[in-house]
Amino acid sequence: MSPGTAEALWERLAPLAPGLTVEMVAEVDSTNTELMRRARAGQAEPVLLVAQAQTAGRGRLGRAWQSAPGASLTFSLGLSLAPADWAGLSLAVGATLAEALHPAIRLKWPNDLWVQDRKLGGILIETASPGDGAARRYAVVGVGINIAPRDAAGLSTAPAWLQEFDPAATDAAALLALAVPLLQTLQAFERFGFTPFQARFAARDALRDRPVTLSDGTAGTAHGVTESGALLVHTAAGMQAVSSAEVSVRPVA
Ligand code: BTN
Repeated sequence: MSPGTAEALWERLAPLAPGLTVEMVAEVDSTNTELMRRARAGQAEPVLLVAQAQTAGRGRLGRAWQSAPGASLTFSLGLSLAPADWAGLSLAVGATLAEALHPAIRLKWPNDLWVQDRKLGGILIETASPGDGAARRYAVVGVGINIAPRDAAGLSTAPAWLQEFDPAATDAAALLALAVPLLQTLQAFERFGFTPFQARFAARDALRDRPVTLSDGTAGTAHGVTESGALLVHTAAGMQAVSSAEVSVRPVA
């Protein structure tokens, strides 16, 4: 990505978040890890950190996130936020990214971008407390998106990539398309929570009305998400609202 892209991003984002900086680095362990390190050291300014390569990219539930330089978009947006309730943030982010990138993109609860049941990208949100007892926390919203073809070896879900359905797609173009909507979503979420995003998530819900299995082995049928972003699963024991970060869900093949 060129310095011109960083400049264009800054020109669009800084008016919405005064003091925001845009940083592009050739390599970092993980853009999330780096911004969390800074937050714990007291740096809570808004920042967009984009990396060409990550040496220790991280996914949800302690998984690794693998990406190849130039073949994927990897970045984190760090911002201080004080929503009344954090529930549903990754769903709101997912809906926003899908809308900004392509109509073919679906959302697999809670935080995957899918195309035809293959994984195009993922979201990892972490927060750090400033330690002053304030409700405000520093949120690090990490996003990884496959841009160019990638090998399925070692992946639990087959990959999809943007260039499959948008041959001209680049990491820079994707970031320019999603950066402003993403920042606006974080700011809207702070004020209004998940409720305004519920229908937007539902419009792209990849699991709706499909048989699913939860990571604890429970089988059921997915029935959309609640106002707080929990996944409704109809199981033998009745309707369950699944919200634990430790639960994953897979459609039955
Ligand atoms: C997941 O699918 O479990 C989430 C993947 C999130 C990957 C992105 S890449 C940029 C940021 N830095 C990381 O280490 N992870 C996120």
